Amino acid sequence: MELIIAMRRQGWLWTEEFIWHKKNCYPGKWPNRFRDAWERLLQFNKDKKFNMYQEEVMIPMGDWAKNRLKNLSDTDRIRDESKVGSGFGKNISNWVDREKAYPTNVVHLATECNNKNHSAAFPEGLPEWFIKLFTKTGDTVLDPFMGSGTTNLVAQRMDRNSIGIELLPEYYDLVKKQIEPTKLVLLEPSTEYESTEHTRHQAVR
Ligand SMILES: C[S@@+](CC[C@H](N)C(=O)[O-])C[C@H]1O[C@@H](n2cnc3c(N)ncnc32)[C@H](O)[C@@H]1O
Repeated sequence: MELIIAMRRQGWLWTEEFIWHKKNCYPGKWPNRFRDAWERLLQFNKDKKFNMYQEEVMIPMGDWAKNRLKNLSDTDRIRDESKVGSGFGKNISNWVDREKAYPTNVVHLATECNNKNHSAAFPEGLPEWFIKLFTKTGDTVLDPFMGSGTTNLVAQRMDRNSIGIELLPEYYDLVKKQIEPTKLVLLEPSTEYESTEHTRHQAVR
């Protein structure tokens, strides 16, 4: 909560909260708590309007949908307005015959600790999901707590530029060895350049 308040004081908008569900959390027993199976991921934005490419993270509908959509009730066939008057509503029949659905804000991924040389490295799937959701090829991704550089390595694989900030020099050295300093591309993605008015060259005498 303190982090959220501090970020808001700096002018950030607290947009969303995701949960990373750790599918393979460690077995164990503690006297005062249960096993850690999730982590919070907070999204902050500078502006209310931001880029979000939801189609990039769509998931297959799955068998539950086939069963759920087989016998639609009367309410399922019309737009069911929110009971609290939020303006939101749903029409379940819109989803019949669709192959893919939008995901929830719970990201289900297993932890990975192999060969990372960092005790708190996260799985590559985690930055990959958010990079897909919020960026396009050629955009820049910043990880202010770089660690073993998972975000930067994934960003490079996905043809994004990246910046990493890390307190400990040993992690900086480790990441530097793994990241290609520049990745050359044969054809750059199509970009709109600013046009200037064509002027005839005048001879200088
Ligand atoms: C949870 S780890 C990040 C692990 C990373 N996501 C990975 O997959 O390897 C957090 C990292 O942030 C670094 N760190 C902590 N405070 C920092 C600060 N103020 N500035 C830069 N790096 C910091 C720590 O040294 C640690 O390596």
